[in-house]
Amino acid sequence: MAVFCKESMVMFLLVASFSISYCSSATRLKKIDHSAKDNGNLRFLVVGDWGRKGDYNQSVVAFQMGRIGEKLDIDFVVSTGDNFYTNGLTGEDDRNFLESFSNVYKAKSLQTLWYTVLGNHDYRGDALAQLSPYLRKIDSRWICLRSFIINAAEIAEIFMVDTTPFVKEYFVETEHTYDWRNVMPQKTYTQNLLNDLENALSESTAKWKIVVGHHAIRSVGHHGDTNELVERLLPILRAYDVDLYMNGHDHCLEHISDTESPIQFLTSGAGSKAWRGDVKGLNNEEMKFFYDGQGFMSVQLTPTHVEIEFYDVFGKVLHRWSRSKHLLHSII
Ligand SMILES: *[C@@H]1O[C@H](CO)[C@@H](O)[C@H](O)[C@H]1NC(C)=O
Ligand SMILES: [Zn+2]
Repeated sequence: MAVFCKESMVMFLLVASFSISYCSSATRLKKIDHSAKDNGNLRFLVVGDWGRKGDYNQSVVAFQMGRIGEKLDIDFVVSTGDNFYTNGLTGEDDRNFLESFSNVYKAKSLQTLWYTVLGNHDYRGDALAQLSPYLRKIDSRWICLRSFIINAAEIAEIFMVDTTPFVKEYFVETEHTYDWRNVMPQKTYTQNLLNDLENALSESTAKWKIVVGHHAIRSVGHHGDTNELVERLLPILRAYDVDLYMNGHDHCLEHISDTESPIQFLTSGAGSKAWRGDVKGLNNEEMKFFYDGQGFMSVQLTPTHVEIEFYDVFGKVLHRWSRSKHLLHSII
């Protein structure tokens, strides 16, 4: 808190009017504390772009998530959005919630909290329905907010960011309608969100900082990079030493390293329909891994070590990446 106030003083000297909103937005992102089962270890699965009533291998991915979830004894699941196809939920009572979520992810290890963001397809339905606490009465695993923070056992902070309102295309296209309630005006919404994120990141003392959004910053899949996020979100992630950025949207699994920072870009958007077949620019040295089929990702963390694994529908590990870092006080 002291650090934050010093910073806001500096802001005050620089831009007097801006510092007030900067200061008052300090606690706007809701923080959820999640204590790990196993002290000093945190393990979770990441899946995206899934809700198709079990079709397109969704059930097969769900089965393997159950197996790997059991093996790793996971603490929770993260969903990168596009939770319900094709047009989100029609309302709180939409049976798609049961048919694509509760009845699909039935394995014992998956009976844990699911921390979820909205994707662009979710905005095509009743976006507020997915955010409604009423859904938790139907299935208590469901935690979906627009943007929030998971404070995971002092090991990691996971910053869940609502990326759909950043994408200009959705505000001009006429093919689909979007539920922009509580988002308009778009400029104010996105700028407030970035300010809140920046505040939260600057105050974070977590060993690992992970940011999750639906849209990719970097991707060689069908949709490719999201320019709005490259321009507006990436500079913040670089400035505050974020370790990992995780997303869905492209229906594939991929791992790309940043050229200018230690950030790893991880796409896990292969929860159901995949095999799109249009990959671009694979011969790039930052490109660590790409898989066009269905699957999911696991993350295992200790205060000094992170390990990422990608799995296919057979539960086979397709790609593994790990990194260690020393704790700050051990260097000093
Ligand atoms: C399901 O997965 C198998 C194995 O990867 C693949 O051959 C098949 O095409 C997939 N089915 C669909 C509908 O994508
Ligand atoms: Zn999407």
